Amino acid sequence: MVQHPKSRSTVRRGLRHGESVRVLIPHKRVQTRLRQLAKEIRREFPDEPLHLIGVLKGCVFFLADLARELGGEVSFDFMSVSSYGKGTDSSGEVKLVKDLDVSIEGKTIIVVEDILDTGLTLKYLLRLFEERKPKHLRVVVLLDKIDRRIADVRADYVGFTIPNEFVVGYGLDFAERYRNLADVCVLQFDSKAKAKS
Ligand code: IMP
Repeated sequence: MVQHPKSRSTVRRGLRHGESVRVLIPHKRVQTRLRQLAKEIRREFPDEPLHLIGVLKGCVFFLADLARELGGEVSFDFMSVSSYGKGTDSSGEVKLVKDLDVSIEGKTIIVVEDILDTGLTLKYLLRLFEERKPKHLRVVVLLDKIDRRIADVRADYVGFTIPNEFVVGYGLDFAERYRNLADVCVLQFDSKAKAKS
């Protein structure tokens, strides 16, 4: 479980008025954990070609960094689903926006997700992928908000278990903003600004 750093509220350029971020997981710690995750995955599949499936767009930095740590034969493909609107609460509805480019039949698949929240997205994806008969199907998530789970799913590999707070950075967004922050941060609103939005 990630502990809240005591007082690391950060003022950054590029933040919208009324929004601020607090570093939850510094970039360096993410990179260290990625190396460990890659080792764990390679321990399970030492010689297998791995086909990573990234769930856009939150996965981009995570997938790129993990792929380079994995070594061996690695390919990847991307999928896009919509589950969140512009706010911080899920609609609970999952829609396929972009399907995979190539078949996954007979392949060792690692689904790469930024964050596991209610689990509804992952449940939808796993059902879809299982029907396509991969050889192995595993899931790696960078962040797991375990307290928010609705669907009965779990990831095989978890980077960090985090508290129930809305996070941005390292690929994660709020209304498409803040994906480019290097650290994983908690997004904070000043109460007046939130009331207006
Ligand atoms: P789930 O279906 O509720 O598990 O949500 C999965 C998706 O919701 C993730 O892939 C993210 O795109 C988004 N999401 C959930 N929690 C957060 C968050 O704290 N910050 C940004 N996106 C989130």
